[in-house]
Amino acid sequence: MNHRTQVGIVGAGPAGLMLSHLLHLAGIESVVLEARSRQYVEERVRAGLLEQTTVNLLNETGVGERMKRLGLVHHGIELRFGGRGHRIDLSELTGGSTVTIYAQHEVIKDLIAARIAAGGQIVFEAADVSIHDFNGPKPKIRYRIDGTDNELSCDFIAGCDGFHGVCRPSIPNGVLTMYDRIYPFAWLGILAEATPSSDELIYAYHERGFALHSMRSPNITRLYLQCAPDENLADWPDEKIWDELQLRLAAGKDWKLNRGAVIQKGITEMRSFVAEPMQSGTLFLAGDAAHIVPPTGAKGLNLAVADVRVLARALTDYYANSNRELLTKYSETCLRRVWKVQRFSWWMTSMLHRFADDNAFDQRRQLAELDYVTSSRAASQTLAENYVGLPME
Ligand code: APR
Ligand code: PHB
Repeated sequence: MNHRTQVGIVGAGPAGLMLSHLLHLAGIESVVLEARSRQYVEERVRAGLLEQTTVNLLNETGVGERMKRLGLVHHGIELRFGGRGHRIDLSELTGGSTVTIYAQHEVIKDLIAARIAAGGQIVFEAADVSIHDFNGPKPKIRYRIDGTDNELSCDFIAGCDGFHGVCRPSIPNGVLTMYDRIYPFAWLGILAEATPSSDELIYAYHERGFALHSMRSPNITRLYLQCAPDENLADWPDEKIWDELQLRLAAGKDWKLNRGAVIQKGITEMRSFVAEPMQSGTLFLAGDAAHIVPPTGAKGLNLAVADVRVLARALTDYYANSNRELLTKYSETCLRRVWKVQRFSWWMTSMLHRFADDNAFDQRRQLAELDYVTSSRAASQTLAENYVGLPME
């Protein structure tokens, strides 16, 4: 089958779905092609912390209703080290901003429901997706459904297919410059049927490694601990995970972590990555397809949403006024935010993790940094304004 749309979107993650939703609100037609099934993307466990800017956008565009009901609004976070907890009062330091705990797959469900209710087209289980002719004005996307070949003609392609997608690697050699850093550790994460042990997130620095206490709801806890990059999950029976989390999160305090049945377990690799520019001809990259941040700053989803907000505005101006200026500036506009968020995510990661080749000096320096961040108003404010999300340009 051959069909046509204005914007062909590859990938139904937060970037692709939010883009399709924003374009629809501006009267621009799109088709989303997703390799996985609807059920798979609606159940995939990922991060779950929304910046104030992301929350505002979901509310302003009519997809915030369930988030308002089920999301947990947080006014602060705790940094725990050297036997003590130190609260960073996000709202007080940012003039009232907060963050909201609401799982990424819930955002996905809300966006899919909104697109489908509006008659939007999302093609799930699209196999062998490939992109063509994006060096010119008539790009095409080919894909297969149930063994049948299809071709989608469009004006623009949005590559929202994540880090392992096909769009970025389709750009000819020599066009992109890649910047990256792979960290010498990973996170072992669990989701557990346990009441959160604290009302707020706890980022813990410990001599045995970093640990994070987060949550999904009043009875589901989300926990992470720093582990080796090639860690084998089979070596981590539940009891061992709980004991290690208790040790690191208590950070020398008399503090007890609530335990419960582990319902999901996984390893998250840690890397920083940026591809520049985020455009080639009529192909625009957004979200994880263009950049990855380590999860310590909780920025992956938020950055993906920030990209497509810029892209939707640029496409809207193009279709409404035949003005290409914002499209031409897309990459430059996004990258200014991307690099600031890269810096913040790298900084949080470096401050809170144990690096195998660090010596006693480095550890003292990390503790001094944590002490400074939690005792200086200027430093706390720097953390807070980045954590709740820098303003959109
Ligand atoms: N064809 C079609 N779809 C594809 C292909 C392909 N070849 N390759 C990948 N996809 C789909 C994936 O199945 C996924 O649903 O593209 C989607 C990409 O979504 P995400 O990986 O969620 O990326 P993005 O939308 O940029 O959101 C970034 O998601 O992974 C988290 O930590 C990340 O929070 C960040 C956010
Ligand atoms: C999460 O809840 O999954 C989460 C929260 C904060 C982070 C990373 C992950 O920094």
